[in-house]
Formats: sequence, structure tokens, C-alpha cells
Amino acid sequence: MSVTENIYEPKPAVLERVVDEIDEVKTFYWRFIDESEQRRFLERFEPGQFAQVSIFGHGEFPASLPPSPTEGELFFTVRKVGSATSAMHEMGPGAVFGVRGPYGNGFKMESYAGMNLVFVAGGIGMIPLRSCIVYALANREMFGDVKVFYGAREPRGLMYMPLWREYEESKDVECHLTVDKADAEWSGHVGVVGSLFKKRDVNLTSKNTVAFVCGPPVMFRFVIRDLKTLGFSDSQIISTLERYMKCGVGKCGHCCIGVAYVCVDGPVFTYKQIKQLGEDI
Ligand SMILES: Cc1cc2nc3c(=O)[nH]c(=O)nc-3n(C[C@H](O)[C@H](O)[C@H](O)COP(=O)(O)OP(=O)(O)OC[C@H]3O[C@@H](n4cnc5c(N)ncnc54)[C@H](O)[C@@H]3O)c2cc1C
Ligand code: FES
Repeated sequence: MSVTENIYEPKPAVLERVVDEIDEVKTFYWRFIDESEQRRFLERFEPGQFAQVSIFGHGEFPASLPPSPTEGELFFTVRKVGSATSAMHEMGPGAVFGVRGPYGNGFKMESYAGMNLVFVAGGIGMIPLRSCIVYALANREMFGDVKVFYGAREPRGLMYMPLWREYEESKDVECHLTVDKADAEWSGHVGVVGSLFKKRDVNLTSKNTVAFVCGPPVMFRFVIRDLKTLGFSDSQIISTLERYMKCGVGKCGHCCIGVAYVCVDGPVFTYKQIKQLGEDI
């Protein structure tokens, strides 16, 4: 970075296509207008990082990067909640917006080389985990068993379905989906995410295993209980924290929890660290 570069300046990006994911949630495929910026970003970002998204005239918000660096394309999956995210939902191909980043510590996947990976997500908690699941499978030889457990309240709440359908056919990964409440077309498992751990074809062990868990607080609490029953320690459980952010780069203090800045020390923390920070998820 040059001394004169403004770290808060969003770089212009153009929206290429928009995919309806689930109710109120869309995936926005985009690229930087400046090709060198596109290359720089693709070379630098890691699973679990986020970016600050500027919707001009409406505001800026942090969004996870669901693509894996191995995919070579950029997209955000965004739930419509307030002014900036709603304005983004109104945008179509060709719209210009701003992006700065990548920010945050990410999942540091290389530090889990040789270990079994378990991914547990509920609803839109899959957004930050998608990146490391795809990364793990693109670097399959680096890891032991890879298991994905994903649940939603109902079938139309499950995101990224084409990916799970592809994984269900693959020998490289075990992919288990569930819904709390089935509809007429659902023939899969019914029950909360943790109930998948007890399925006969699931052999989940804590030995040499790390579990990545993201989802709503109620799911998180029950999944933690189930994982601990299976012998997982607090440092074998990894999650992400969400905090109001402004700068995204450790300057403004908006995202502080205790001694940690979620934007630079996180958003990825072990459950042990989350407890030490006094955070109640
Ligand atoms: C590291 C990180 C990654 C994130 N990744 C994603 C993602 O991939 N996809 C996604 O859809 N969302 C993500 N979020 C949440 C997203 O940033 C907020 O939904 C967004 O800031 C809302 O902006 P807005 O202008 O639309 O809402 P506003 O108009 O600012 O607020 C609307 C409502 O949402 C509440 N709100 C706003 N921001 C937050 C927040 N950060 N935490 C809790 N409540 C909030 C406000 O209190 C208000 O009630 C992430 C947040 C963080 C910190
Ligand atoms: S958002 Fe400013 S310090 Fe983290």
C-alpha cells in the first residue's frame, strides 16, 4: 500500500448477476472494475474473511466472503435487513457499488492440515462457512474426513442447494441436510441440526477433529452441548462473531469485545476465546 492510499476508500465494483437464494437473501456476483484490483483481491483473500460493502447514498456494511479463493470469482450473499442491504437487493446487473478489504483473520485452513473437519451450520450461518468447505474440498489431500451438517427451519431456508446436491454424490465429503419442518417435496432428515450427529450413517468423533459452527444463537448453544458430549474441547470448536463495524481495520473501536477488535482479531474465534472474551452467543 502506498503512503498516500486512503484505507477507507471503497474500490468500484460492478454487479454481474444476482441469484435469489432464499426468502430475503440474494447472492450477488461481482467484479472490481479495475482488473488489477480484481487480481489483487483474488490473490489475497482467505476463507472466513469479510469485506466492507458500500452502496452509494445508502451506507456501508460488512459482508462475509462466501466464495473460496480456489473458485476464482467473487460474490456476496446478503440478507435484506435495513437501509444498505435493502438498497443492494434493488440492484441489478451493471450496477456499481464499492468494496474494500479483504479484512479479518479468516479460518487459517492450513493450520488444520491433517485433521478431520466438521462443518455445522444453521440457516444463513452457512454464508461464512461455504468458503472453507469449498476450500477444503479443493485441497482435499490436506485434510482427513470432511463432514457437513446443515439445517434450516424448512426446505426453502437451505441455501446453496446445487453445491450440496453435488456433494451428496461425492466420495470426498459426507453431506447431511436437515429441516425442522418438512414440506411435501422433502424426503430427507427432519429434526434440528444436532440430531444429525445421531444418525446411523454418521460416525462423528472428536479425535483429531475441528468443528466449525455458525448459525443462530439457539442452534449454536445446542450444537455446542452436543459436540461437548462427543468429547470436543472448547478449542476444537471454531465460530465467527458479528459486531457493529465502521472502519473494519482496527481504528474506530466500534467492534470491540473486551480486549479484542472483532474486525482484526476476528471474526473467527475458537469457542475457548469466545468464552474468555465474555461473549454469550
Ligand atoms: C464480520 C461480519 C460479516 C457479516 N456477513 C454478512 C453476510 O455475509 N451477509 C449478510 O447478509 N450479513 C452479514 N453481516 C451482517 C450485516 O453486516 C448487517 O446485516 C448490515 O450491516 C445491515 O446493514 P443495513 O444498512 O442494511 O442495516 P441498518 O439500516 O444499519 O440496520 C437495520 C437493522 O439491523 C440491525 N443491524 C445492523 N447491522 C447489524 C450488525 N452488524 N449486527 C446486528 N444487527 C445489525 C440494526 O440494529 C437495525 O435493527 C455481517 C456482519 C459482520 C460483522
Ligand atoms: S470496526 Fe473499527 S475497530 Fe473494528
